[in-house]
Amino acid sequence: MLPEVTATRYVTPLREGGSLPGIVEADDLGTYVMKFTGAGQGRKTLVAEVICGRLGRRLGLRVPDLVTMQLDPVIGLGEPDQEVQELLKASGGLNLGMDFLPGSIGFDPLAYEVDAAEAGKVVWFDALINNVDRSWRNPNMLVWHGDLWLIDHGATMIWHHNWPGAAASAAKPYDASDHALAPFRPDIAAAAAELAPLVTKELLTEAAADVPDEWLVDEPGFETTDALRRAYVEPLLARAATIHERITLTAPSKPRPSQAPGWLTGHLTPWPHPAEAQKAAGE
Ligand SMILES: Nc1ncnc2c1ncn2[C@@H]1O[C@H](COP(=O)(O)OP(=O)(O)OP(=O)(O)O)[C@@H](O)[C@H]1O
Ligand SMILES: [Mg+2]
Repeated sequence: MLPEVTATRYVTPLREGGSLPGIVEADDLGTYVMKFTGAGQGRKTLVAEVICGRLGRRLGLRVPDLVTMQLDPVIGLGEPDQEVQELLKASGGLNLGMDFLPGSIGFDPLAYEVDAAEAGKVVWFDALINNVDRSWRNPNMLVWHGDLWLIDHGATMIWHHNWPGAAASAAKPYDASDHALAPFRPDIAAAAAELAPLVTKELLTEAAADVPDEWLVDEPGFETTDALRRAYVEPLLARAATIHERITLTAPSKPRPSQAPGWLTGHLTPWPHPAEAQKAAGE
């Protein structure tokens, strides 16, 4: 079970997050990034955050502490932003909190060096959970006190959106070419050798046990919340054994096309992908 706290003050929205997470204070005097059950992405995002966040921690990766947060929407009454008001109103009850890392900065591949061993672990972990949201466009990693921290595991385990096809979906390969750590020569083989044996049925069962019942009830095809918890274990267990053989990792062959309008592109210097910048620097 995750520790449960009660939200006492909504501080401010984090506008860079697509789901409009907010910074919220709680009755344990902690400050959290709160992810809301009423957000457009739905409660499965929160289930994924818990299972993958807990699993990552148990594999020795840095993921901020997680809690469940009781929210009384009344704490948002003074919030001037209509969108935030609506989100809080739709999210009464249990939400997810992630320990806020004060002073952390977003990971920048040009400013922060990651060694091949750590890059390998992160890429292997993302392949395991099928994370499609750690690309160079949106790294979802923070640097805090000189260390790399992993956040945002909401867009993972795509198979939980279609349970009847879960086994087939989880058997699919993982394309890591766009991964934010692809340029750091991730040592996938070493990561798999170290981490795969740790991903046992017991460990996955423990991670799934941390998901509150409220986010699991009434899933079509499942009689009980525990049956649904068990369904999360199987695809990850199967994937852990062999996913390292099915990770595609190629440096992008050409620079990304600029998204800037034509009248502006003539004035811009193309931004090289870090892999190419490294190559050019003669590494
Ligand atoms: N624990 C944390 N400590 C400090 N800042 C955080 C933390 N978690 C998230 N943030 C900040 O909030 C932003 C949004 O968080 P997050 O990526 O988890 O939200 P999201 O809505 O799932 O985003 P996305 O648009 O990537 O789907 C992050 O990019 C980061 O800047
Ligand atoms: Mg994000």
